[in-house]
Amino acid sequence: MDDPTLPHMVTPPPGPATRELARRLRQVESRNVTYLSEHFPVFWARARGAVVDDADGNRYLDLTGAFGVALAGHAHPRITAAIREQAGILTHGMGDVHPPVRKVEFLERLAAILPWGSHSRITLANSGSEAVEIALKTTLLATGRPGVVAFRGAYHGLTLGSLAATGRDDFREPFRGRLYPGVRFVPFPTTPDEARESLAALDLALAGGRREFGGTDAGAAGPGEGGLPGAVILEPIQGRAGVRVPPPGFLAEVARRTRAAGALLVFDEIFSGLGRTGRLFALEHEGVVPDLICVGKGLGGGLPLSACAGPVEVMDAWPESPGEALHTSTFLGHPLACTAGLTFLDVLEEEELTAYAAREGEAFRRALARELPEASIREIRGRGFFIGIDLGRPGAGVEVTEEALRRGLIVLPAGPHGEVVELSPPLILSGRQREVALELLVESFRRSVG
Ligand SMILES: Cc1ncc(COP(=O)(O)O)c(C=O)c1O
Repeated sequence: MDDPTLPHMVTPPPGPATRELARRLRQVESRNVTYLSEHFPVFWARARGAVVDDADGNRYLDLTGAFGVALAGHAHPRITAAIREQAGILTHGMGDVHPPVRKVEFLERLAAILPWGSHSRITLANSGSEAVEIALKTTLLATGRPGVVAFRGAYHGLTLGSLAATGRDDFREPFRGRLYPGVRFVPFPTTPDEARESLAALDLALAGGRREFGGTDAGAAGPGEGGLPGAVILEPIQGRAGVRVPPPGFLAEVARRTRAAGALLVFDEIFSGLGRTGRLFALEHEGVVPDLICVGKGLGGGLPLSACAGPVEVMDAWPESPGEALHTSTFLGHPLACTAGLTFLDVLEEEELTAYAAREGEAFRRALARELPEASIREIRGRGFFIGIDLGRPGAGVEVTEEALRRGLIVLPAGPHGEVVELSPPLILSGRQREVALELLVESFRRSVG
């Protein structure tokens, strides 16, 4: 009997309806945006829980959580009901002028789960990149120093400010002429030896030193550019770089050195936050509290919502609004997004999704390590439901992704050369869904890279 929570393929993807949509899309969307090929993508028509239907009626298991957003699953009934109700009451307000009631409620709810509790001050935004922009603006206001230290491989977004701190040459190069040059990049370590090298590079960068630390993605500050850094920004676990976990103690050392140098530490928890890694925030694995945190993705329960937050001493670097906010936007504190976010945070807590991710995510990782063809894999890493399968060969993650799609499994490639398969499923993935995902992944690996 057909189980609606499991994959079910009625036509090889991309099917006829999908091909027609791809043809229409080509006529209207900038060619930069959606990658269209013979084998990719499929167009989503419907999603609930951890499954997605495409336009041809194929049903897939979504092991991406749609870029990590669907933490509570797609279309969680409570979140959907709350959005419906709110849509009939107030869909849009005047965020920083006549704020929606929901904004206040959401901010209170979010503050309560941040490391600084009621001492937190928060600025809301609509995307992860914008939350990073706010963090970088905050560090400049607080320290008077525009310079930034960021990490190679880091992904902080593609708006100009966040892109300047994104450590990927492919994204940076076409816009180099517009990027703030005062960002020094240091290596992101995954072993104790690499951590020593990274910390030495960090010390030099914090002292305002200039050195190219190998590689071509240097983006190192030139003389006089940026001066002494006022910010160190990093993902506690690098996501799009291929789910790279730093060795124990590294984050604490970064925090110590950053503060000794009079700079502020920014944790970008846009991907790693809100239960994904088996802790509410990935910072808890190391017990390190930053000066600022960025959250996004799942924060809005599926609607666009992000935040930059810190303790009042840091966030009060911003002046009191005299009537014109120095940083705001039309949709700030959007009542629909705040309602969805409020309900999502309730669901996260009441359904104990974080503990589930810790337990079931680890079990999934162990099963992957046991079952996937050993010869094709360099490393399986991650925490909770944040898993990277490193194949050690450029493009191998892309091959597996396409093979998996044919079998009813949605995964994404990651890593600078598409060498990793990244898994960031909804935190509600059931035991049976995991079993089926594992079977299909094993087949996909065997067929493509095994
Ligand atoms: C760690 C991290 N920071 C920032 C961003 C940018 O977020 P957005 O795409 O919502 O602008 C992302 C997106 O993947 C991310 O993973």
